Amino acid sequence: GEDSTVSITVVGASGDLAKKKIFPALFALFYEDCLPKHFTIFGYARSRMTDGELRAMVSKTLTCRIDKRENCNDKMEQFLERCFYQSGQYNSEGSFAELNKKLKEHEAGRISNRMFYLSVPPNVFIDVVKCASKSASSLNGWTRVIVEKPFGRDSESSAALTRNLKQYLEEDQIFRIDHYLGKELVENLSVLRFSNLVFEPLWSRQYIRNVQLIFSEDFGTEGRGGYFDNYGIIRDIMQNHLLQILALFAMETPVSLDAEDIRNEKVKVLRCMKPLILDDVVIGQYKSHTKGGISYPAYIDDKTVPNDSLTPTFAAAAIFINNARWDGVPFLMKAGKALHTKGAQIRVQFRHVPGNLYKKSFGTDLDRATNELVIRVQPDEAIYLKINNKIPGLGMRLDRSNLNLHYAARYSKEIPDAYERLLLDAIEGERRLFIRSDELDAAWALFTPLLKELEENKIAPELYPFGSRGPVGAHYLAAKYNVRWGDLS
Ligand code: BG6
Repeated sequence: GEDSTVSITVVGASGDLAKKKIFPALFALFYEDCLPKHFTIFGYARSRMTDGELRAMVSKTLTCRIDKRENCNDKMEQFLERCFYQSGQYNSEGSFAELNKKLKEHEAGRISNRMFYLSVPPNVFIDVVKCASKSASSLNGWTRVIVEKPFGRDSESSAALTRNLKQYLEEDQIFRIDHYLGKELVENLSVLRFSNLVFEPLWSRQYIRNVQLIFSEDFGTEGRGGYFDNYGIIRDIMQNHLLQILALFAMETPVSLDAEDIRNEKVKVLRCMKPLILDDVVIGQYKSHTKGGISYPAYIDDKTVPNDSLTPTFAAAAIFINNARWDGVPFLMKAGKALHTKGAQIRVQFRHVPGNLYKKSFGTDLDRATNELVIRVQPDEAIYLKINNKIPGLGMRLDRSNLNLHYAARYSKEIPDAYERLLLDAIEGERRLFIRSDELDAAWALFTPLLKELEENKIAPELYPFGSRGPVGAHYLAAKYNVRWGDLS
């Protein structure tokens, strides 16, 4: 309102995430008039910088996503005028007190709402939270903190992080981001299921044969080896992004769309999942590969990665949900870097038609003839349903066709970046898309025993060439459950 302000402090302002995602998302929100009337943005980091230097740095990251947009440059100027910089140590209450002084000047006596975005390495999370809450929290409005993974690296370290955060913050002040929840098609899952008649009645073991959650990148760790080697693909993608999608996919109908109701259902279904076991997991690591005269590096060629690293850059896993709806249905996850293609999809394979009259038309490979619902999260967002259809003509021949909702063809509006939605929700206090601490605990409980076993027994990943389809083992794992991986391309 008129008499309140929001200030957003990006702690770790010169880092990669801030430059690539946070500042551009804030600008996009500003451009769309979604930010409150009175707002200020502060960059906070250790290096010395003037406001002007920060603005120059930020301005390089801003784009008007649709280039023909009107008055984009004016808007950028206006946005940059609201950006300021404060340098300081992450563990210095004094520096945060200086920030506090500046924030107060900008607030000019209005109600002060303060958001801190922790875009810093996890080893300084607690220092920052401590100093910010002691020296720079709001006295008459709200103070919120956005944190992003890694939230520890197993159940114990995650619980310790939560305990430490809660020394300084209430749970409802903590906004744990999983940016996959901000993706358009992930948010749409609940609309698809709960506002259409034709999906939800089929959404169970009775009609669904298996579900696949696939994440694939066609590039390696590219300079992030230092971070990545300590975590690996299971912690980087599966335990959070893919598991969150699975929870939304498989949860029961929530009481309402309120954040607490939705998150209650997510926790419930996470707790019904069986912890992963080694027998149901395949890990891989990419090795170098030469193609068309170009040579692509191995994971261990990354200078920040030890030569004998066993860290997986690929993993496939089967997960089971022990409840009435999903008993026996394999949920197969696959995530990998340096693969042949880039994309994220949810693929739902339905069961065979009992007593199918057209059985003969499908030859011997009946599995290929079942319906499949594909939710293409990215790139080129789409939802399509594979159906069997008569090829027009006098004969009786069938083929597979798609009922296709292709976003680019159906909607002219550009899809916002996940961070835009999430930042806006955090500013508005909408917690639906943020991870509650009990969800986080449940997610770690599923993966921690497996991660320990992999690491304690030094299980070697299967090597796969950069740019390939990943380890063959993933196909055997799927075959064990009568599943054939869907093809992303
Ligand atoms: C991050 C992971 O959370 O998600 C990265 O740490 C990964 O390793 C990225 O590349 C993928 O996000 P997106 O939105 O580009 O699919």
